[in-house]
Amino acid sequence: MHGTLHIEGGAPLSGSIAVNGAKNQALKVMAAALLSEEPCVVTNMPKIEDVERMSAILTALGVSVTRDGDSMTINPAGLSTGVLPEKEVNRIRASVMLVGPLLARTGDVTFPNPGGCQIGRRPIDMFLDGFRALGATIHDLGTGQRLTAKKLCGTTIVFPRVSVQTTEAMMITATRARATTTLKNAAMEPEITALAAYLNDHGAKISGAGTPTITIEGVEKLSAGPITLIPDRVEAGTFAILGALSGGSLSITNAEPAHLENIWIHLKQAGVNFAVDGSTIHVMPSPTIKAVSMTTHEYPGFITDLQAPYTLLMTQAKGQCIIHETIFDGRLFYTDLLNSMGANIIMCDPHRVVVNGPTPLHGRYLTSPDLRAGMALVLAGLIADGTTTIDNAYQIDRGYADIVERLQRLGARITRADAS
Ligand code: EPZ
Repeated sequence: MHGTLHIEGGAPLSGSIAVNGAKNQALKVMAAALLSEEPCVVTNMPKIEDVERMSAILTALGVSVTRDGDSMTINPAGLSTGVLPEKEVNRIRASVMLVGPLLARTGDVTFPNPGGCQIGRRPIDMFLDGFRALGATIHDLGTGQRLTAKKLCGTTIVFPRVSVQTTEAMMITATRARATTTLKNAAMEPEITALAAYLNDHGAKISGAGTPTITIEGVEKLSAGPITLIPDRVEAGTFAILGALSGGSLSITNAEPAHLENIWIHLKQAGVNFAVDGSTIHVMPSPTIKAVSMTTHEYPGFITDLQAPYTLLMTQAKGQCIIHETIFDGRLFYTDLLNSMGANIIMCDPHRVVVNGPTPLHGRYLTSPDLRAGMALVLAGLIADGTTTIDNAYQIDRGYADIVERLQRLGARITRADAS
């Protein structure tokens, strides 16, 4: 797959599109599966590149990973090493989630500094501080780290800033540490709450997930079993914004609208015509979109992973607004690409842009800078005049399964030219 996407803009879109299982829960469930010796069966597992990367890493560790449609069975009985493979780890930041379970299982983990989206500095200082607090000894290898720990012991960890994966990493690792661990200033994302529920169903004693303070009582053993992933709220929000942009009528199905309340309030204020009906969001033609400023914030604030699609929507809105990206210091540079299509976005500093709209967009050759900005460029191409070519489609395939086919079914004129 991957290659280059070709889009003829302006086609009216309509129909329904189903939301897949949440990427940012799937990757953590795959890591948490190592906490037990029993097989974990994940359903609603999206067929995306990031899941392929994590599967390759698990396989390299001796773990059996098998897929059957939207179901994946992870059997960690064959776990044979704590050395994480450099090539795959460099391609996905979520690989850092494996360190804690491996430390609990083997007591000796070596991993290269993780890769991931280039959306700003992605340090792992809070991960290392957390593992050190739980009793690990850290050996800096220059290009990576080696962590050793005879036994992990519970403690209180106060995160200097809210971090989704650091919260998840410490939560799952602490399930196998002695005594009790308390996490303060924890992230509250729905994927964290769902992960804690799965672990509690299999012997863990986690309380407070979904609040800023999480308490974990360590246990000797964890069982494993079936889990169905929650809907991907970033997919649902992205497709709702596509509906508002396309001028057609879209129904987004298999969603969990309750996980996107902050997005709905912004879309409502912007004059987007939509209705929520159970697990479906109906987006109808919205003749006038108004500019509404937005600030990203950890859950339950406006999710940073929808900042790019929302900023694109604001280029088509009437008026001026400020987009304030508070979480990452490099997640607004893609706006230069939107400007090259005709948008009028002024960068005030790496965290803030002023968007003036509406501006017609025209197609051009683009390279997808990262996963979420890449998807915003696809949406831009779908509404632009003329042809848009988006290279480096791998970035989009990291988080959106079968995106070309799913958009074609809505009437989009989009094709993929495989990598030459
Ligand atoms: C998770 O990344 C998500 N990834 C991101 O989604 C999401 O954008 C982000 O949370 C924020 O919601 C996955 O879940 C796999 P953070 P994560 O730790 O955990 C700083 C996508 O598009 N920080 O919450 O890596 C960090 O630099 C991806 O699906 C430290 O300083 O983000 C950032 O400024 C992109 N030290 C802030 O915390 C650390 O040790 C929040 O980052 C760790 C993080």
